[in-house]
Amino acid sequence: MLRSTLLAASRSRGVRRLVEANPLTKPVVHRFIAGTTPDDAVHAIRSLAAQGMYVTLDHLGEDTLDAAQATTTVRAYQRMLRTLSETGLTDRAEVSVKLSAVGQFLPTDGEKIALDNARLICEAAAQAGTTVTLDMEDHTTTDSTLGILRDLRVDFPWVGAVLQAYLHRTEQDCRDLATEGSRVRLCKGAYSEPASVAFQDKGEVDRSYVRCLKALMNGSGHPMVATHDPRMIAIATDLAARAGRSPDSFEYQMLYGIRPEEQKRIAAEGGRLRVYVAYGDEWYGYFMRRLAERPANLAFFLRSLITQ
Ligand code: FDA
Repeated sequence: MLRSTLLAASRSRGVRRLVEANPLTKPVVHRFIAGTTPDDAVHAIRSLAAQGMYVTLDHLGEDTLDAAQATTTVRAYQRMLRTLSETGLTDRAEVSVKLSAVGQFLPTDGEKIALDNARLICEAAAQAGTTVTLDMEDHTTTDSTLGILRDLRVDFPWVGAVLQAYLHRTEQDCRDLATEGSRVRLCKGAYSEPASVAFQDKGEVDRSYVRCLKALMNGSGHPMVATHDPRMIAIATDLAARAGRSPDSFEYQMLYGIRPEEQKRIAAEGGRLRVYVAYGDEWYGYFMRRLAERPANLAFFLRSLITQ
């Protein structure tokens, strides 16, 4: 109930104005978001790299219905990728892209515009010497995103995508994508989805996550285990060992600011750990999804508003 209210609020312009206008929001937001500028992102990458970790960078933004805004987002990624190259950080950092931020929802030719824009970002990544992963949004976009992934991989076979274990379809998608060179970031799923397409019970989502992990670990692609759940992490470690995988043939991935001690532990023990670092001004939707994932975050947020 609380989760779906927060996810509904993440799409409300009224609540967005209220939250953004409150100066006391900022310190809490900074727990999850590295800052607003490319320099802030570089600072976060350097600090995580010094601890043996890798990064995927998300230039915050989603759901644009404005072609000019989509182009602005593409330019921001191109600039960021140039910065990564100039600062020698491409061996540590790649980028993650939401297709809705580069035009997928535009009423005319949205899918084609998103594909063309994603291609520009992939070209910049190829020049810089790094990779791109496509984020996954709500279930109405899954077919479109996987279609764009297929098209991009013809020229850029290293493009990866996120799959969400809460969707009924995902176990089959994992089997289809568990092929040579294929990078799949498996997460549980962060949107509010109907029972017709998604498991509603947490136990069922976890069981689906394990089935998906099995498909990915036993395949020949590069699984990216995106979860903070200690049980899922332990199962992934076990499945990777049983499949005879070397530590660099798969990754653990977590969000910036969530379970940082566990992130350090995995990296210190020789696991490949990548942190999803979000930066930029458009932090509202991302921040609200982080609150929805954990009621304690909401309590922390409300307490900080009261006590500051
Ligand atoms: P679960 O929610 O069961 O949490 C397990 C434990 O982790 C909790 O008990 C708590 O200790 C900790 N935890 C989890 N969330 C927390 C939070 N917000 N704050 C503090 N502690 C928290 N989703 C999506 O739909 N599309 C996408 O493209 C992505 N991309 C993505 C990339 C990466 C690298 C990660 C790690 C996650 C995503 N997600 C995502 C989000 C994902 O779907 C999911 O909502 C969160 O990861 C939370 O689920 P867990 O697997 O961590 O388990």
